Parts: sequence; structure tokens; C-alpha cells
Amino acid sequence: MTHVHDSHTPDVTHTHGKRVTTPAEARHPLDPLTGEEIAAARRILADAGHVTEHTRVPRMLPVDPPKDVLAAWREGDALDRRIRVTLLDRDTGVSSEAIVSVSRGEIDALTVLDTGSAPYGQPQYLFEEYDAAAQLVKASPEWQAAMHRRGLEEHMELAFCSPLAPGFFDREDEVGKRIIRSHTYLRFSESDSPWAHPIEGLVAHVDLTARRVFKLDDEGDIPVPQQHGNYTLDVQGPARSSLKPIEITQPEGPSFSVDGSLVQWENWKFRVGFNQQEGLVLNQVTWRDGDEDRSVATRASVPEMVVPYGDTSVSRHWISYFDAGEYLLGKNANSLALGCDCLGVIHYFDAFVPDDHGNPVVIPQAVCMHEEDYGILWKHTDLAGNAETRRSRRLVVSYFTTIGNYDYGFFWYFYLDGSIQMEAKATGIVVAGAGIPGSEDPHGPEIAPGIFTPVHQHIFCARLDVAIDGEDNTLHEIEAAGIPTGPENPYGNAFTWTNTQLTSELEAQRIANGLASRVWEVRSAHRTNYVGKPTAYWLIPEGKMLLAAQPESTVHGRAAFATKHLWGTQYDAEELYPAGFAPNSRQPGDGLPAWTAADRSLDGEDIVLWHSFGPTHIPRTEDWPIMPVDYSGFWFKPHGFLDQNPAMNLPADARASASCASGDSTGNCCTAGGCGCCAGDACRCGSANCGCGTPRG
Ligand code: NI
Repeated sequence: MTHVHDSHTPDVTHTHGKRVTTPAEARHPLDPLTGEEIAAARRILADAGHVTEHTRVPRMLPVDPPKDVLAAWREGDALDRRIRVTLLDRDTGVSSEAIVSVSRGEIDALTVLDTGSAPYGQPQYLFEEYDAAAQLVKASPEWQAAMHRRGLEEHMELAFCSPLAPGFFDREDEVGKRIIRSHTYLRFSESDSPWAHPIEGLVAHVDLTARRVFKLDDEGDIPVPQQHGNYTLDVQGPARSSLKPIEITQPEGPSFSVDGSLVQWENWKFRVGFNQQEGLVLNQVTWRDGDEDRSVATRASVPEMVVPYGDTSVSRHWISYFDAGEYLLGKNANSLALGCDCLGVIHYFDAFVPDDHGNPVVIPQAVCMHEEDYGILWKHTDLAGNAETRRSRRLVVSYFTTIGNYDYGFFWYFYLDGSIQMEAKATGIVVAGAGIPGSEDPHGPEIAPGIFTPVHQHIFCARLDVAIDGEDNTLHEIEAAGIPTGPENPYGNAFTWTNTQLTSELEAQRIANGLASRVWEVRSAHRTNYVGKPTAYWLIPEGKMLLAAQPESTVHGRAAFATKHLWGTQYDAEELYPAGFAPNSRQPGDGLPAWTAADRSLDGEDIVLWHSFGPTHIPRTEDWPIMPVDYSGFWFKPHGFLDQNPAMNLPADARASASCASGDSTGNCCTAGGCGCCAGDACRCGSANCGCGTPRG
């Protein structure tokens, strides 16, 4: 379904039961950047003479205050809002990085980056560079000659030249240069989807600073697949009429509340952040336990991902996109105002990002928040046949981003039982190459006539700055384990579990093992639960394939995060992106492998978990022309954090409290859940015993 909303106003809009918040000004140190702050950062740099007509702004990121400053901050205290601004001179290729305080109007630091050598990566791509690269390719005599040679000259005007991050191969004509590689796709009309018409073996290599195509690969003569890959209903329709409507209604509104960036829902409390690289960030995640908000995580996000391709062709052997560090997930976030993806009563958060020049751009309704029914949370039928059932519900905070052909949804789910789930949704259009119909390619199945789709992976890396009852935590690997038959296991049936503490960063580089039910436990170093054990959460991995590329490949060291399911590091404010601040064109070794070389202690320290997960994609016919969502992710579940199931007092009525929360005098408002004692205002289905304390006999 699609809703088209009126243009938003800069405050709060109510549109068909959907609410939007556009923060006019930051009120809390962790609020996302506002449009005015982005404009101020640019203005401060321009006033100091750091912005010329050739200057562009590949990235602006909020700099969170130091943790001790944040802990001491109280509402009403002054804010010192700082922004990390990357500047790029498009004429010279020189880039620099500034730390700007927009609160104080000062530049705290300005560093010229050594992007001219291999160890330092290039800043993220600008939107204008996509267009510039396409124009350079189309204007180059080499490309035009290749199009003529292939008999495609009549298609040159409508051809689509894609802007692709180059990887790193230590080549003399590439090291230290700002490079983009470009595939060419045909379009047979303005609205034709290009991805179905790849020109196999044609790759243009562009130097964005010198503004020229410095190399062109033109191999083979495989015909361009002609069958369209269009997916809209005017082509794929008419729409079926067999599905009856589903309406999600919440007549009393949602159960969450929003105050600026602060969200409260049932026991959960957190702050919604957003930035250009990571998109959605969750800050200060706590669980209300009695009169106390107990910390679970200080910050949670998915700051990086890599999409390495697995074929040997000239077209694709070099592909390993870092969709966050090279293209920026948040910058490419969808405005859900244009296509409403959630059902129910929805709260949207707008997001501000800089454009190529550093001027603020609003992404209206970038983040969606709503509640979902999630089936059964718990149930039991007793010996007399009385059933007790409680329904599960989850709070969903999500955004979608489009990076070229692929679309990714990042969904965080909060549950009533204290669990958090992260789910990445991969959809969109698989990258296709062309082949001879009916032929075999060991690296890419044919999924439509002549459309060969190379195997590839989407490996995401979540960063979880965990804080189980505070920052002093320990990390443990827990496994279930059988026991050899013998004195310890005389009947052969016994098994147990093992607990191995991971005390330092090198010990905390781990691989999942589903056959041992391996999980990673984060414990409080000081707090114990009801039964005297440390309070803890479990990171439960899916444990799918890690990076398939060999250790000798450059992507192996550039995407080192993807070679382990788990990395544990001691918190450092500068360690935010697992492949480093600028993975584009960077040589291997930055990020997690560099940081963990010091093998810092994780014993009772402020621990950050880095968790790699995601699908290894062997495409199928059903992925064409658009792939159904492929789900991947992980769970973060309380394991001894709470003294009992925290959802025992859920209302028994499946529709929750709406029909019997107050003023109900029918006397049977709670009978569905097993209590028949309530009448009048005494009826409180939300409390453990319906408010009257007398279970039904
Ligand atoms: Ni894929």
C-alpha cells in the first residue's frame, strides 16, 4: 500500500493517525543532528575559509559526548553539540576532517587526511559523482568504441552506467586515487529497469579527480539479455483481487510515548538516533524493573556491511561493496512518506543529512515506529482444562535504505519478555551478468534466460555497546555439551553446559557453532539476580557462513569483521566502524584487526560487541525480477537478568486492555483469561489477578 502524505511541517504533524516528529532543535546530547546544526557546521567552516567552490562534504557525523560528560549531564544543562565533518576538494582530491562545535561556533580540530597513500581510504561517494562518472564514461572514446563494436551504438543515450566502489588491489594507477568502476546496462525506454540488460565484460575505470576514464575492460561478445525486468503492476498486473483487506486498528492509540528522541514503551526506554552512515541508532536502552531503569545497552546500530561477489569474471571479481562505509546507509535512507511500509498507528522520525555541499536535507519520515501483534507469548492449559494465554507484542523501530540495485531494511524489535531482536531485510534487485542461455557458470546460476547472477554475500556487522546493569561487564561463551558415558554420566543421557570467559580482545574473536548451541553471554561484573548469579544477556547468533573469500584476497583483510561472528572490544569512542572510518579504496587491516591487536582486557570492562551476520546468496529464479525479502539477524535475550518471566501480568484479554481497562461493569471482562471475579471499576485486566485477587474456581 502507498500513502502519499502532504508535505510535512517542521513541528508535529498528524496525518491520518500517523505522527511525525521533526526535531527543531536538539534538547538532549544524543539527539540526532538537526538541519540547523548541519547548516551551522558548514557555515563555521566556510567562515574560517575551509569551503571553496570545489569543496564538497562527503560525510557529517554527530560526535557523541564522552561517557562521563553524558552521565553528568542533566536536563537544562548546556549542550556542546559537535560534528565530525569530512571535506573533499573535488579539484585536487585532497580531503580533510574537522571536528566542529556548533554550540560554541568553533573548529576544535582540522586534519588533512593522507588519502594519497594506500593506508588511508577515500571519503564516501557524493551523489554528484554518480552523475559525473556516468558522463565521463559516456563521453570516453573507449566506451563509445566498445558500444559500437558490440553493435549497441543506438542504445548509448539511454544506457545506465552504475557507480561502483572499486575495492583495493594495490595497483599503481589506483592507489591513492579516487576511483569508481562502472558497469553499463541498457534501457529500452526511459522507464525500463536497466538491471535486466547488463553488458557483460564491459567495465569502465574512472578517476574522479582527474575526471577521466583511465582504463576500459571490454571482453567477450555475450548478447545483452532482452527480456525486461520491470516490476510495476502496469507490467506485472493486473493486481489480484483475491486478498481481502486487513485493517490494523488501535482505537486508543499506540502504547508508546515519544518525547523528542526519547521513546518509552512498556518496560523499554531508549533514544532514537540517526546519522548519515549508520542510519538508525538506538541509545541508552533500558528496561524498567520495579522503580529502576536498568541499562541493557548504551548504543546499538549496524554501522557496516560488506557485499563481496564470488565470481572470477572481469566484470565482478573486484566487487566488495561496503554499503555503509562507502555509500552511507543513512544518506540513502528511504523517505517512508513516499511509500508507507508499516501498518497500524505509526510514529515517524524525520532525519537530517547533509547534501554534497554540506547543506541540510530532510528525509521526511525516515524512521518508522509502531507496535505489532506477535502471536503467543506464553500459554498453559491446566489439569482442569483451563487455558491461560497471553499474546506477544513487539515495538518495531525501523528504516529502509536503497543502495543502487539493493534495498535493505534494518528492523529492531523490542519484546515484552525483555528480548531485543535485530533483523536485516535484504530485497531489491540482484546484480545480474549476462551469459549464453543454458550454459553453466560455477559462480552464478542462470535465473532468467541469459541472466546469470553471481553468488555473493551480504554480511552485516552490528555494533552493540552493551551495558548489562552498568558498563562493567564480562563476556562468556556458553555451550551445551554432552558428557562421555562413564563415572560422570553412568546412564549416558547426561549433558551439561560450559562457560568459558573471554577475558581479552584476542580471546573474544569467535565463530558460531550451532551444533553446540553456542551463545555469548554478557554479564554484569557486580550485580546478581534472585538466585545469586550475575545478571546477564545472551547474544544468540544465527551462525551462518562467514566471509567466503580466501585469506589471500584483499577483501579478507578489508572486511576482517566478516571473518568472525563475534569480536569483543574494550570501548573506545573512536572505534565506531568495524572496517574503519574510510574503507573505500583502503588497503587491508583497518578497523577491528588494528584495534584488537592490543588485546585489551574485557574482564569487568566497558565492552563493545561486534556481531557479523547475514545471508550468503545463491540466487534463484524466484529472486527475479525483484527478490522477496531475505531475513537475517540475531537475538539479544535476557538470561538471568530478570527474576522471573516479566510478562506474567499481561492482560488476559487478547485485545489487551481496551475493552475492560476501566468502568466495565459487566462482571465478565476478564473471563477469557480465567478470572470471572471482576465487576465495575475493580476490573483491572492489566494486573496479575484482574485486580480482585480471586482466581476463578
Ligand atoms: Ni543478494
